[in-house]
Amino acid sequence: TSKEPTILVIFGAGGDLTWRKLIPALYNLHHDRYLPDRFVIIGVARQETDNDSFRLRLREGVDRFSRRGATDPETWQGFADRIFYFRGDFTAAQTGERLKVRLEEIERGWGERANRIFYLAIPPTSFEAATRQLEQLGLCKDCGHDRLVVEKPFGRDLDSARALNRLLTGMFDESQIYRIDHYLGKETVQNILALRFANSLFEPVWNRRYIDHVQITVAETVGVESRGGYYEDAGALRDMVQNHLLQILCLIAMEPPVSFAADEVRNKKVDVLRAIRPIPAEEVHHFAVRGQYGPGAVEGKAVPAYREEPGVAPSSTTETYAALKLLIDNWRWQGVPFYLRTGKRMHTKVSEVSIVFRPAPHHPFPAAAVESWQPNRLVLRIQPEEGIISRIQVKQPGTRMLLGPVDMAFHYREAFRGSSPEAYETLLLDVIRGDATLFMRADQVESAWGVISPILDVWETVPTATFPDYPAGTWGPETADLLIARDRHNWLQPA
Ligand code: BG6
Repeated sequence: TSKEPTILVIFGAGGDLTWRKLIPALYNLHHDRYLPDRFVIIGVARQETDNDSFRLRLREGVDRFSRRGATDPETWQGFADRIFYFRGDFTAAQTGERLKVRLEEIERGWGERANRIFYLAIPPTSFEAATRQLEQLGLCKDCGHDRLVVEKPFGRDLDSARALNRLLTGMFDESQIYRIDHYLGKETVQNILALRFANSLFEPVWNRRYIDHVQITVAETVGVESRGGYYEDAGALRDMVQNHLLQILCLIAMEPPVSFAADEVRNKKVDVLRAIRPIPAEEVHHFAVRGQYGPGAVEGKAVPAYREEPGVAPSSTTETYAALKLLIDNWRWQGVPFYLRTGKRMHTKVSEVSIVFRPAPHHPFPAAAVESWQPNRLVLRIQPEEGIISRIQVKQPGTRMLLGPVDMAFHYREAFRGSSPEAYETLLLDVIRGDATLFMRADQVESAWGVISPILDVWETVPTATFPDYPAGTWGPETADLLIARDRHNWLQPA
């Protein structure tokens, strides 16, 4: 439970993730009294600093990034008292030994063995060294108490993901490993399960008989920002599709789980990934397209091309946009295409899923009545302006029988007061409670890499001569429109 005494050790505590995401999320949890009374954060990093300056910098991060805005001094103090800086190079043996002494000292003070959570907020190249330390010192060997949290990127292809899984599962039990995909912590992503399995209205039509196709869009307006170094080696397919978009697809397509026990849900998701039809190398161009942004304007502001961003090669062939068509070979989804797209520097920041229904089987209306007819569409808006919208046909007011689309909408903002927890709040609290439902299991990660592997292979060997191929601030390259137009569909404007 979340009442048990807990020590959270963050490796890479000097980094951006700790500052922007982890500490603000933990502050909010502290603020809302979700943290156990006995809860301590140990930030491990190499910089020369002390508790006071470390806390001061973290406070600045909370002021800037916490959804609660500026910290309230008293609450902050209570929170800051829980944070300790631990200087050390976690790859050096002696750091581990010192850390062990420190943990045992805290536990002695509490009079019992605490749950220890080790959070790897470090580059993947250091995973091995850090986890070996934990293993050798027996720091993470108690399955009931000890947990390891691993951030993405989890490998850069199927082979490296397998190797990483072998490494980690060789040292720790799978039940101790929490692989983070922060999209799974988002309220509206979790709500997909509630919508599907808490309502009898949708599930009966949630299949190939009624659904024509599904579109998943995760569009960002930001560029690559200061992460050129990482992104050059990743690209949109690895950075977003392998994890976030495929996870959303799993939630949309999975069979109903028997319960919310971690493995029940995860088994059903893996079933989806394994049912995705493999894309043969020679057909990759029919199922996947890539793009890269050139100079343009986003929200009225001129922005440079990807190739001009810091840390990016002037002739880079890394994709900043990817669109895919996937087919799921199972009973429920046979013949229903799932179109996925994601990109940086797009026209609008929006993440949403559109379920597009088949046309009504017969129209009794006169031809003129259906001129502005559109198929029924259910939109699950993940961000921003979270909500669920269903587009239905109604009679337009007037003396004639004319049809037109209207929206029935549920907006979080209107239905519920107050702000929702951020993804990292939900996920950190789950780790503290020991609930792995929203985390990725080894086989999930590997199956997801398996889905995109053939595309990665082809893209790596066949260079593109056409980059950049979409101006910043647009909806992506023309090739993406062609991909979907071949099936006589088009990308839908956000609802
Ligand atoms: C991260 C990617 O996983 O997700 C980033 O590495 C991306 O490139 C980010 O910007 C998007 O997350 P969110 O929560 O802002 O939609």
